[in-house]
Amino acid sequence: MSADNQLDNKSQAWSALFSEPMSELVKRYTASVFFDQRLWKADIQGSLAHAEMLAAQGILNAEDHAAIQRGMAQITSEIEAGQFEWKLDLEDVHLNIEARLTTLIGIAGKRLHTGRSRNDQVATDVRLWLRDEIDAIGALLQALQLAMVEVTEQNAEVILPGFTHLQVAQPVAFGHHLLAYVEMFARDAERLADARRRVNRLPLGAAALAGTSYPLDRERVARTLGMEGVCQNSLDAVSDRDFAIEFSSAAALVMVHISRLSEELILWMSQSFGFIDLADRFCTGSSIMPQKKNPDVPELARGKTGRVVGHLMGLITLMKGQPLAYNKDNQEDKEPLFDTVDTLKDTLRIFAEMMGGLTVKPEAMERAALKGYATATDLADYLVKKGLAFRDAHEIVAHAVKTAIATGLDLSQLPLAELQKFDGRIEADVFEVLSLRGSLNARNILGGTAPAQVRAQVARHRARLAAAAAH
Ligand code: ARG
Repeated sequence: MSADNQLDNKSQAWSALFSEPMSELVKRYTASVFFDQRLWKADIQGSLAHAEMLAAQGILNAEDHAAIQRGMAQITSEIEAGQFEWKLDLEDVHLNIEARLTTLIGIAGKRLHTGRSRNDQVATDVRLWLRDEIDAIGALLQALQLAMVEVTEQNAEVILPGFTHLQVAQPVAFGHHLLAYVEMFARDAERLADARRRVNRLPLGAAALAGTSYPLDRERVARTLGMEGVCQNSLDAVSDRDFAIEFSSAAALVMVHISRLSEELILWMSQSFGFIDLADRFCTGSSIMPQKKNPDVPELARGKTGRVVGHLMGLITLMKGQPLAYNKDNQEDKEPLFDTVDTLKDTLRIFAEMMGGLTVKPEAMERAALKGYATATDLADYLVKKGLAFRDAHEIVAHAVKTAIATGLDLSQLPLAELQKFDGRIEADVFEVLSLRGSLNARNILGGTAPAQVRAQVARHRARLAAAAAH
């Protein structure tokens, strides 16, 4: 059998040990090439680093090394031009590329796999690929944060009813509300950056499971690939996918934050709230109800959160029953991981754009804030400053609110004489306290909603995001 058609027929790709060919169904069931081909760049990058090290160690001669470089360059242009023929018979991305290399350069192509197994190869590929995707996701998270900081700045004076239990609680600055999400996304970015450190370690050199008898220089390969170190145990290196699980968990949290934001955008855009409008390009109409404009993008993002959380469950379940070391189960890590990355990137991109096209309706927000006795706590605090114990003040204000509800007025609309019936210490200065703006200004504490605090937070976020971008 010729050198290159040995890999062309999968039933004979391994050895002469196999006496019958695989059925078409089993081939299709076991193959991964139709989804793992997206790892091709990482696969070639890893192979080139491996070959360079083999040459430096005198395991591969200079001529073979040059042939491998030449062949890989050709394969790269074939794939980029869409001319590479991916073959199901060759099972996965690794065997497809290696077989093509051998077709192109002959026996040197077969020498590439010295001291290597597909087990450490695939683990390396996934890590290289994921590392770059984490960087792309990090940049998208930054862009979304910046977009939200900008909306905050443009709406510095806007007041929103703050809710607990979805009941009007206390007024908050609209920007303060948005910056809560910026905090979440900032922590998400930190989590991803932290996970990246553990993703960015080198399995190559672990070979199938036990290491290899060739004098490989693993540290050199790690340096070439820009990795932060080598995996220190060969069995662990080829078998654990905790780095992918950790990433998926961080990704699921990003989506959970996006989903909470989506839920608010959907509520805020409903007729009952009327706080915001989303640009038409993020919405769709109804085929039957001509008046409808639906917030499809946030709804889909909320839905896709289930999908990403599902992938996390899939990956973590995939791992739980596996004995050391590599098992074919691990081939199932790819589709959930790929889909998580795709979904997350699209969602972040679309949300950053959508924030830029947000219409804020300050009057509606303020009207809603005035409806639910949002400054009742402020009246209680006022009485405490006049010497009452907070519990007593709370009780007095409850009576005042009851009266106000009965008359259909806000606390600030009750005449002073009426208010003074609840406590004689109430004076004309109470009306400043009962105003929405007075309530906001009073919460001038680090992390609080006073406009001065929100402005300081905007400045802090801007500086932080600029520093991260420059990094
Ligand atoms: N396609 C395989 C995967 O994704 C590559 C490793 C196969 N190794 C093996 N011993 N069959 O995990």
